[in-house]
Amino acid sequence: MTLARTILGADFQNPILLAAGTAAFGRELDGVMELDRLGGIVTKAVSLEPRSGNAPPRVAEFRGGMLNSIGLANPGVVGVLEVELPWLARNLQRARVLLNVVGFEWGEYARVIERLDSSAVITAYELNLSCPNTAHGGIEFGAEPESVAQIVAQCRKVTKRPIAVKLSPVLPDIAGMAIVARDAGADAVTVVNTLPGYLERGGTPLLGNGNGGVSGPVLLPVGVLATRRIRERAPDFTIIGVGGITRAADVAQYLRAGASLVAIGTAALADPRLPFRLLEELEETHG
Ligand SMILES: Cc1cc2nc3c(=O)[nH]c(=O)nc-3n(C[C@H](O)[C@H](O)[C@H](O)COP(=O)(O)O)c2cc1C
Repeated sequence: MTLARTILGADFQNPILLAAGTAAFGRELDGVMELDRLGGIVTKAVSLEPRSGNAPPRVAEFRGGMLNSIGLANPGVVGVLEVELPWLARNLQRARVLLNVVGFEWGEYARVIERLDSSAVITAYELNLSCPNTAHGGIEFGAEPESVAQIVAQCRKVTKRPIAVKLSPVLPDIAGMAIVARDAGADAVTVVNTLPGYLERGGTPLLGNGNGGVSGPVLLPVGVLATRRIRERAPDFTIIGVGGITRAADVAQYLRAGASLVAIGTAALADPRLPFRLLEELEETHG
């Protein structure tokens, strides 16, 4: 068995991606890791306008993993088009680029895609739906079938590239929501995003923003279950498994649960060589 695979109409040399937001746009990792050996990179979330993000501290560690509140800091579509995508096009020959998109109202996702779609380096889009709908009381887009369906349908109209929706693990019926996205035109689902969390010490929150997203080892069983639930209900839908991967056995679990690709976030932030060690281990067992 080989690790190479054709997913979403594209060839991936192996199933290991770097998870959204944990590898920025790859440029920062130049000289630290050989990005082009991986299956691909999911970029940091891109919004229409640049965002400076939340107040520091933005990350805190705890026993089960990490708590973060980056606040979706990013250069916006212009900076991404002018600097980040050209860098990726020059530096990646084999690794694929999945572009993570955020919006703060329904229409913003499709507007971001429209602005970026001329770039040939993008293999697929990943819609980060764990983002508060500021025009609608701050409820996450991914929590309501209507907003999921509308956002996916609007994005579907403006691009021929594959679209993945990224869902939060706190949905009561994550498989049901994945099916809503599929029926509106999505090609894949990415599970899971971070879990909401809060930590304080002596009454002072550990994060400048107060609450944040939990990632790391504690998410492994959550992500594997979400993958299994979606695979049971939607046997042919492409799943990208994310959450808590630190070992080759974790990757294998996601693949057995039904994921076609996996993404590593927190563990690769702590140790940029880890994805390559997992890859070598997988090559030994599967290669
Ligand atoms: C610092 C940090 C930034 C993140 N930024 C994004 C983001 O921009 N878009 C997104 O969809 N997910 C983002 N995530 C979530 C990760 O892509 C991933 O779903 C989550 O961390 C679980 O994987 P892990 O346990 O391997 O870290 C971020 C996570 C972390 C830790």
